[in-house]
Amino acid sequence: MNDPQTTLAQRFAAAIAAAFGDEHADTDPLIRPAQNPKFGDYQANVAMSLAKRVGKNPREVAAAIIDRLDVAELCETPDVAGPGFINLKLRTDYLQRLAADLAADPRLGVAAVAQPQTVVVDYSSPNVAKEMHVGHLRSTVIGDALARVLEFLGHNVIRQNHLGDWGTQFGMLIEYLADTGQAESAASGSAAIADLNQFYKQAKAKFDADEDFAERSRKRVVALQGGDEATRRLWQQLIEASKHHFNEAYGKLNVTLVDEHICGESFYNDLLDETVAMLMDKGIAVETEGAVGVFVPGFNNKEGDPVPLIVRKSDGGYGYAATDLSAIRYRVGTLHADRIAYVVDARQSDHFEQVFWTAEQAGWLDAAHAAEHVKFGTILGEDHKPFKTRAGETVRLADLLNEAGERAAAIIAEKDPEMDDARRAAVAHVVGIGAVKYGDLSSDRIKDYVFSWERMLAFEGNTAPYLQNAYVRARSILRKLGVLAEDAAGGVEPDVSKTSITLVDPVEHALVLKLVQLGDVVGQVAGSLEPHRLCNYLYELATAFHKFFEACPVMRAETDALRDSRAALCVVTARALRAGLDLLGIDVPERM
Ligand code: ARG
Repeated sequence: MNDPQTTLAQRFAAAIAAAFGDEHADTDPLIRPAQNPKFGDYQANVAMSLAKRVGKNPREVAAAIIDRLDVAELCETPDVAGPGFINLKLRTDYLQRLAADLAADPRLGVAAVAQPQTVVVDYSSPNVAKEMHVGHLRSTVIGDALARVLEFLGHNVIRQNHLGDWGTQFGMLIEYLADTGQAESAASGSAAIADLNQFYKQAKAKFDADEDFAERSRKRVVALQGGDEATRRLWQQLIEASKHHFNEAYGKLNVTLVDEHICGESFYNDLLDETVAMLMDKGIAVETEGAVGVFVPGFNNKEGDPVPLIVRKSDGGYGYAATDLSAIRYRVGTLHADRIAYVVDARQSDHFEQVFWTAEQAGWLDAAHAAEHVKFGTILGEDHKPFKTRAGETVRLADLLNEAGERAAAIIAEKDPEMDDARRAAVAHVVGIGAVKYGDLSSDRIKDYVFSWERMLAFEGNTAPYLQNAYVRARSILRKLGVLAEDAAGGVEPDVSKTSITLVDPVEHALVLKLVQLGDVVGQVAGSLEPHRLCNYLYELATAFHKFFEACPVMRAETDALRDSRAALCVVTARALRAGLDLLGIDVPERM
């Protein structure tokens, strides 16, 4: 199935070539959905950009294109507005055909890509022996949405959870684990370390206060790196306890990460020597003050002196950079990545710029094996400072997610006091978690955003509850019509693949126009790796549906054919909302 934008673009290309010669056939006709429905459904902006090149004024260019444009069966007669915008309004019969195609298409017009890539998505990546806090929310939620979108488009997605599971602090942590005997219960499989934050703090306190402990901790680092068996076992227990904790958060968040996606920093140990040796051989890394570093152009200190990316410390140890460089070699060389997306805080920009530059110099990355830093801003409190608890501590992710459920339950209890407790708890979970995830995904990821329960949980506006509510409405119409067969999951939609669609009201026209744009939007998200584009789209779709719901009676439609057509629009809209939210990792309730 072709969406109108693609079809129109093809017709425009032909018209441009006919009017100005084949050398202009590749010109992007710049077809965009119209901002204001008054001017039609789409707008072609090509006349302005083409004008200079063909030496005519834009309105003449527009007229020449329209002259040769073959869109009679797609659009009403196009007209030229302002300096040379070409306004296009789709014909009703064309939209009806498109709507019927959608109703028969299980992929809802989202075509799989012709050339699937292997895409590594590096996301979540928390640190072992530390509790996940609100800072880990963004990477986890954004990364998971991107992985789902890319996968749905047919790409081979490899999720990588680059756990921070290595480094000198592990000496202290392991020694503390051994000292306090918490290892015993860990070994038996139960979560030994109930409170990772406490554990880390206590270990650190002991390290600072107790010289003997500090000395033993340093020896532990050596033992860990040397592969001492008992030490490795303790280290493994630390990881198990942390994994248990991470998995709890992933489960609550409905995130697709599981143990097999874990590929932590320690995994790259055996590659580190070689990585640095290769960089030195190629003259990319050089010795500097006893360490080994890469001088990346443009990275200077305040005095203007170049600052190297350290790939080997002066004590011979390796750090974050050497690990990431080794991970690139592994991801391209062994996993065969065509594209690697690092969903990491924008504050790590310098690190990734330097690492990617170095890897390009070394030939590990190039145009066909590209890495991108999918950076995101900080979550702020209502005071516009980094989000903290009232007591000024970082917010634990687990606490945040619990609060989401509680707040959602209170709102739902108010809206529907009749709902029984079990159902309310289930709905509150879906709505509360959905609100938090959507609140994060819907803001332009590069920007900081203010965390506000009120905004996220509002039933009006660009929020998860608003979208979920649109879905609930669509499904409830179908239930009232008696066409939703009840099952455990809440209902099987009727087969509408052969229903003929009749659009009589402008709001129906507007709804279908939105529905046919899903494929294009999903493609955009895969390109720019910006989930908020999908959120904006779903919000517009839900808004169009609410308008349709207000203006167009379904049950009491004038004719049976019109009723069936409208019921089919409800089915397709419900599917699109559910599929779109699912790509964001958000569930839908059947009632709320
Ligand atoms: N563990 C790191 C942190 O918490 C994030 C790792 C991101 N991924 C990477 N390949 N560097 O900041």
